[in-house]
Amino acid sequence: MTHHDRLLIIDFGSQVTQLIARRLRELNVYCEIHPFQNVSDAFLEEFKPKAVILSGGPSSVFADGAPMPPASIFDLKVPILGICYGQQVMMHCLGGKVERGHGTAEFGRAFVTPKDTKLSLLDGWFEKDKEQVWMSHGDHVSEIAPGFEVYGTSPNAPFAITADISRKFFAVQFHPEVHHTPNGKKLYENFVRLAGFTGDWTMGAYRDDAIAKIRGQVGDKKVICGLSGGVDSSVAAVLIHEAIGDQLTCVFVDHGLLRQNEADEVVSMFRDNYNIPLIHADEADLFLNELEGVSDPETKRKTIGKLFIDVFQKYANTIEGAEFLAQGTLYPDVIESVSFSGGPSVTIKSHHNVGGLPEKMGLKLVEPLRELFKDEVRALGRELGLPDSFIGRHPFPGPGLAIRCPGEITRDKLDILRKADAVYIDQIRKHGLYDEIWQAFVAILPVRTVGVMGDYRTYDYACALRAVNSVDGMTADYFPFSHEFLGETATRIINEVQGINRVTYDITSKPPGTIEWE
Ligand code: XMP
Repeated sequence: MTHHDRLLIIDFGSQVTQLIARRLRELNVYCEIHPFQNVSDAFLEEFKPKAVILSGGPSSVFADGAPMPPASIFDLKVPILGICYGQQVMMHCLGGKVERGHGTAEFGRAFVTPKDTKLSLLDGWFEKDKEQVWMSHGDHVSEIAPGFEVYGTSPNAPFAITADISRKFFAVQFHPEVHHTPNGKKLYENFVRLAGFTGDWTMGAYRDDAIAKIRGQVGDKKVICGLSGGVDSSVAAVLIHEAIGDQLTCVFVDHGLLRQNEADEVVSMFRDNYNIPLIHADEADLFLNELEGVSDPETKRKTIGKLFIDVFQKYANTIEGAEFLAQGTLYPDVIESVSFSGGPSVTIKSHHNVGGLPEKMGLKLVEPLRELFKDEVRALGRELGLPDSFIGRHPFPGPGLAIRCPGEITRDKLDILRKADAVYIDQIRKHGLYDEIWQAFVAILPVRTVGVMGDYRTYDYACALRAVNSVDGMTADYFPFSHEFLGETATRIINEVQGINRVTYDITSKPPGTIEWE
């Protein structure tokens, strides 16, 4: 695969390292994040970065075993940008001084003013005489390394922007990648320009490369792909189909926990629009029977995960000569599994996926999206001609409605839930809010309440509406619907959905809540 010019981000554990990658990808620059432990001389030799960024991080350069890049990084003769802890690392390694942050820690908004001297990194940046930036550091640089000069200061950071122009080394104390440094993208733009990047990381180029790579990997063998109806697996399937045509077969497992019309929509999109061989495995009875009487969330998830693998395997066995399994793994999943901190240490929920399958079945993996972020997958989907209505769909979890039905799952409850969810989403669309919301759904609650309709008493289920905004699902805030919208939606659900007589709106953020109810 021609990999264009590559920028290496060395991760020292900052919470916002991924945002650096986002800013760079927006500039059509290909970059990869690697935790500092993995960056050896041999790695650098192989990766051949055209430029390097040293991320921020929670450590202190004084700590035992403080995270450090290999010393050879400074001999690569490529531009380097150090951010926050990355700045301290540069100064520490190159002969400057860092001081412990007793009483000088600085967090939050600050304003940087330029020095008289001009720096190409700052071209077009100081449109006014000062720029807002976001600081978040404990220790600070007290003496800059030989060869460096100061180009910007803030009241608490005399070395806010420093550079050694001859070596194209830049070091800033603040975080240009975050939202609260409003013009931060300009800094990255200047950095990649002066490093000689041409902005050749486009979706068109990615698609061509990915197709060539899939053909090279698969040859004349067969591939199977589990389709969930979500964006990732769908884009992966369409891309692979473009590469190898009928050598691909998709398996769509309908576990009876899908939303209204979901199975038909997915199946017809693949069969009618793309003519991709598709097995529609209707296994609702199997899943729902097995889930009867199960109310513990983790047992539900594990039961569904296990059945999914069994069913997938059953159908995959009917495809002769399949040697590969396609998955819609994304870049954040890849980073998470090798991240500085080693990823989440506590299992909050067992996420449903097809992990374990490849080894069990002796299959090799095809993961054509492993270098992409979610919004890049959407852009690739558009490039491949998937309908916008499909690409813009809200995320839907693998265990489906099971985790939106706290307590015991019954077919009755699922029917009621499907209808309520359809009315809610219809309302959201009618009010032009669908694309403003990251994810919205209804959960049916395991409680009945008394109501009065007409002159009759009702004793029906209560439901909760959920709508959140989020960037990546890791944190989320509830969507601020108007009272009119909520009132109108509650009235519609109660009037149109038999079985529900009370509607509530969930205003919990994540954390402390999670997005799904189970
Ligand atoms: P939580 O509830 O953990 O959800 O805050 C975060 C995001 O992940 C989705 N989700 C899942 N997606 N398999 C998936 O593919 C799962 O098991 C699963 N559980 C939660 C959830 O819908 C939200 O977008």
